[in-house]
Amino acid sequence: MTQQTHRIAVLASGHGSNLQALIDAIGQAILAAELVGVFSDRPAAGALQRAQAAGVPALAIRAADFPTRLAFDEYLFSRIDRVHPDLIVCAGYMRLLSEREVIARMGRMINIHPSLLPAFKGLRTHQQALEAGVAEHGASIHFVSPELDGGPVISQARVPVLADDDAGSLGRRVLEREHSLLVQTLRLFTQGRIELRANQVAFDGLTLDSPLQLGPDDLLDIPTSRNPA
Ligand code: GRF
Repeated sequence: MTQQTHRIAVLASGHGSNLQALIDAIGQAILAAELVGVFSDRPAAGALQRAQAAGVPALAIRAADFPTRLAFDEYLFSRIDRVHPDLIVCAGYMRLLSEREVIARMGRMINIHPSLLPAFKGLRTHQQALEAGVAEHGASIHFVSPELDGGPVISQARVPVLADDDAGSLGRRVLEREHSLLVQTLRLFTQGRIELRANQVAFDGLTLDSPLQLGPDDLLDIPTSRNPA
């Protein structure tokens, strides 16, 4: 049986709606985990305010206070290590993570990215999708690796691209699905069903040959007709 995840630390730079989805899911007993810390590089990040409102320890670390990116990351992860997370979740964290810290935590750090990886890595993913003229877009959760948005993909949620979409409308549709995807995927971690094995995702002990495709209510044990048998 793989290590079960109960202690979750979150890195966030923005509004924190993904963090809020975790706070809400824990409060509704949908996610059996404890948020042991929220860390941000932006003192004004909404995610920090949401953490404080929920009584979750929150820490802002300013890059300007450190001589190098490496020094910043060393301090950031020294503070993360102090809360002993089983899993670190990057949810809208906008700084590149140094290779040394990532490699030391392979398999224990995940990121949610607003595209169907490997398509549209990097920033402005909704604009990239519109410019590419794809019919489907969505979000992916992957293990963090030294390659930006390049680690093994665990799960995905898909949304249609509508004819009158702009980056805002498409982004809102994706963001809404990110929230359920993140909760669903973290539930799998708390149940010990996901692990990184030889740089591939193992689900219930079997290597996945493609990411789990999760609908809005999958795996949440919500009694709906759509739940898989
Ligand atoms: C999400 O779209 C996430 O995929 C991207 O940044 C956004 C964070 O949104 N990396 P929020 O701060 O969780 O609302």
